[in-house]
Amino acid sequence: MSDNLPLKGIKIIDFTHVQAGPACTQMLAWFGADVIKVERPGSGDVTRSQLRDVPGADALYFTMLNSNKRSLTLDTKKPEGKAILEKMIQESDVMVENFGPGALDRMGFTWEHIQKLNPGMILASVKGFSDGHHYEDLKVYENVAQCAGGAASTTGYWKGENSGPTISSAALGDSNTGMHLAIGILTAYIGKQKTGKGQKVAVSMQDAVLNLCRVKMRDQLRLDKVGYLEEYPQYPHEMDAFKDGVVPRGANAGGGGQPGWILKCKGWETDPNAYIYFTIQGHAWGPICDALGRPEWKDDPAYNTPAGRQPHIMDIFGTIEKFISDKTKYEAVDIFRKFDIPCAPVLSMKELLHDKSLRASGSIVEVPHKVRGSYFTVGSPIKFSGMKPNVTASPLLGEHTDEVLAELGYSAAQIAEAHAAKAV
Ligand SMILES: CC(C)(COP(=O)(O)OP(=O)(O)OC[C@H]1O[C@@H](n2cnc3c(N)ncnc32)[C@H](O)[C@@H]1OP(=O)(O)O)[C@@H](O)C(=O)NCCC(=O)NCCS
Repeated sequence: MSDNLPLKGIKIIDFTHVQAGPACTQMLAWFGADVIKVERPGSGDVTRSQLRDVPGADALYFTMLNSNKRSLTLDTKKPEGKAILEKMIQESDVMVENFGPGALDRMGFTWEHIQKLNPGMILASVKGFSDGHHYEDLKVYENVAQCAGGAASTTGYWKGENSGPTISSAALGDSNTGMHLAIGILTAYIGKQKTGKGQKVAVSMQDAVLNLCRVKMRDQLRLDKVGYLEEYPQYPHEMDAFKDGVVPRGANAGGGGQPGWILKCKGWETDPNAYIYFTIQGHAWGPICDALGRPEWKDDPAYNTPAGRQPHIMDIFGTIEKFISDKTKYEAVDIFRKFDIPCAPVLSMKELLHDKSLRASGSIVEVPHKVRGSYFTVGSPIKFSGMKPNVTASPLLGEHTDEVLAELGYSAAQIAEAHAAKAV
């Protein structure tokens, strides 16, 4: 464990649940912040018991989003619980929450009240929609945000039986929003070092998804001007796809200036992931021709410019697919990597879990846990040259209640009273 973690000394009240908030505070905990998870006595974060794989133990849903934290149980609707939370606010730097709209206010912890308790406090919130939005009252989960933020309307196939809007399995609404919030918190913290004042930081899930759909908004603006999108697989054969003036779903097409597609490799008939992603980078056309053994394509005007290739781009992908049909996805990538072609195998969760490089880099880590035994989790995706975050187990429900209360200055008798009042 690095003892030089830069966020050491920053105290965070982690009043979060499910995924969006916990993903944010977990990352801050990895980098050294003292993150105290505040949970309802008796039940705690709902993810502790959702999708359990080991009877009686915290579910992976919880353990994989709450490592490196401490847990305090607190009923913040009871006067004794409110008083403890007030004391925590006075002694902390940041409070993070992702309750439904208005829940914190209904609990009595309005921004005005929090500021009175601690003018330096940074209050960081995740909501489905931003303050003042016409949907601000809505409760939101992952897929709702993917629909509201533009991801679902632009993902999937544009034709065929399953051509409706499609959800990504990446947590664009949840964890992505948490990552945005972490940037907001650290920015506000640096601001506080200059001004001494805290501030409210808010990220809506809709905004966080939209921020990742930036290039799709770019496409809408281009479509409005030009009437079609030249790099989409529908162009130029299916111009009807652009008729309604709305960015169509582009299936597996590349989102930028270089076309790409998912290509079958040896074994695709039985292995659902025997595929690679192949990108045709404009300046790599020569090497692509060499890799495929098609030198004649280099000078052929139907092949040697993006405009020449686009009308038959799917045929070109078909030719590449034929070339790799007797090669596994790994063999195919091993050939193309020699020619500097941007490509990769489609990797399953199972392959990623056992990937030697991910284990070596700390992107997949094994963590010992008191109750469930050790478990694997996704470690920090951010690597530093001067420190190495160490992932430690998620806390048991209320594991640190007495310890945290004692640190706040409560005597043993006062702690016993709080227990008796069922406030903790
Ligand atoms: C995720 C979400 C839909 C879950 O909704 P929910 O299960 O109904 O939970 P809520 O957040 O509304 O909270 C329910 C109640 O628990 C209460 N509560 C939470 N922790 C408590 C505690 N420690 N002590 C006492 N009460 C507590 C809240 O005050 C709230 O009470 P109220 O509605 O009576 O005022 C909702 O929290 C939400 O929309 N959050 C914002 C967006 C978000 O982060 N979504 C993604 C999550 S991955």
